[in-house]
Amino acid sequence: MNPDKVICSCYKVTKGDVARAVANGATSFKEVKKATKAGKACGKCKKKVKKLTKKLLKD
Ligand code: FES
Repeated sequence: MNPDKVICSCYKVTKGDVARAVANGATSFKEVKKATKAGKACGKCKKKVKKLTKKLLKD
């Protein structure tokens, strides 16, 4: 995973930001959204952020 890759272009949220949110205790997409804002605007990134969150929680 490239942590610098932007996953939500609306808020410039990177994969690393999502990973940090999970490391800080987020256990769902909803909580990642709250922590990073990813998915709060157009919603286009939702699927990707959800998938990454799931993956990070599993690892
Ligand atoms: S790309 Fe994430 S809300 Fe638009």
